[in-house]
Amino acid sequence: MGQPLTVGIVGCGAISAQYLKTIDRLPQVKLVAVADLDPERARAAAEQYAGVEALGVAELIADPRIQVVLNLTIPAAHADIALQAIAAGKDVYCEKPLAATGEDARRVLDAAREAGVRVGCAPDTVLGTGTQTARAAIDDGLIGRPIAATATMMTPGHERWHPNPDFYYVPGGGPLLDMGPYYISSLITMLGPVRSVIGAASRTRSKRTIGSGPRQGEEIPVTVDTHVTGVLVHESGVLSTLVMSFDAVATRAPNIEVHGERGSLVVPDPNRFDGQVLLTKLGDGEARELPVSAGYAEAGRGVGLIDFLSDREPRAGGTLAFHVLDVMESLLASARSGRSVDVESTCERPAAVALGDPAALG
Ligand SMILES: NC(=O)c1ccc[n+]([C@@H]2O[C@H](COP(=O)([O-])OP(=O)(O)OC[C@H]3O[C@@H](n4cnc5c(N)ncnc54)[C@H](O)[C@@H]3O)[C@@H](O)[C@H]2O)c1
Repeated sequence: MGQPLTVGIVGCGAISAQYLKTIDRLPQVKLVAVADLDPERARAAAEQYAGVEALGVAELIADPRIQVVLNLTIPAAHADIALQAIAAGKDVYCEKPLAATGEDARRVLDAAREAGVRVGCAPDTVLGTGTQTARAAIDDGLIGRPIAATATMMTPGHERWHPNPDFYYVPGGGPLLDMGPYYISSLITMLGPVRSVIGAASRTRSKRTIGSGPRQGEEIPVTVDTHVTGVLVHESGVLSTLVMSFDAVATRAPNIEVHGERGSLVVPDPNRFDGQVLLTKLGDGEARELPVSAGYAEAGRGVGLIDFLSDREPRAGGTLAFHVLDVMESLLASARSGRSVDVESTCERPAAVALGDPAALG
């Protein structure tokens, strides 16, 4: 193995613990420092890991030891932190969505291209065995020609468990921008980019009540749609039907299904790395579980950083994340206008991930 990839984290909130755990497990990635607007959070995170320093945000971004800035701030801060990192000549890997708006995301990608640095973006869950085994099944022709897919995410909303859920209900949040990146990245990984969309959306209440933590009982404003549905027309002609909602008590629909001429697949939760892939072939009464055949095994959030060790565009990459954001914004624009909207951007299907333990990759 060569020199490890050196990383600095900006944003030590709820999700950072999962990244810290993954990085600790990957010998090829070394965490150098952490930072947060709240220095206490950075100190608490640094204390758990030997050799990791708590720095100020600007100090971390300027630190010459750090190659990649891992941006785990809230969506409204994603572009600002990414642009600062790029200006300092760093690669950047960002939590999803790439930015709160497509316009901000475009500025990030343009700045990165000019600076000659790379942009990666969550979700990297789709590099795990769940989506990758389903993709391999489709690529191997197990369902015949793909025709359609459904993607369903319905919950009552994150304010019940997240102590600071404000960002879920302002631009950059909502069920579509929050959870859509998992589902749409998985659909694009399996079925390719999207050429147009038709959307419809609603907002059931103007306030939400925080359900846990020190702010329990506090009302927060809702300024985004909280139930979003639509159809994605893939460049291949496949039609994916999407339902993303913070307005439902529960659903028993599979997270994702993909239907082909000769078979139907149940694809596991794209917010997880693993899960069962089920195939029902035309004429078979029963679904059977497919053996795990592709993807990172035992992976955790942050595994997408591994691609920065080579010269390639990261598979959990900026171009894919930009297209995903463009698809989501186009859906919301379609919902507003009541008309189909062409998606201007496109992307390559990210390269497939061979089955293996990411910790063993050089
Ligand atoms: N919480 C989850 O389960 C979860 C899961 C997957 C992805 N995500 C994504 O991860 C990101 C962070 O979510 P979270 O739940 O950890 O949020 P959080 O509010 O718990 O943490 C965000 C942290 O970023 C810090 N921060 C905000 N702006 C900053 C800035 N300009 N400079 C430095 N630090 C700043 C905050 O002080 C806070 O500590 C979001 O994009 C979210 O969509 C969250």
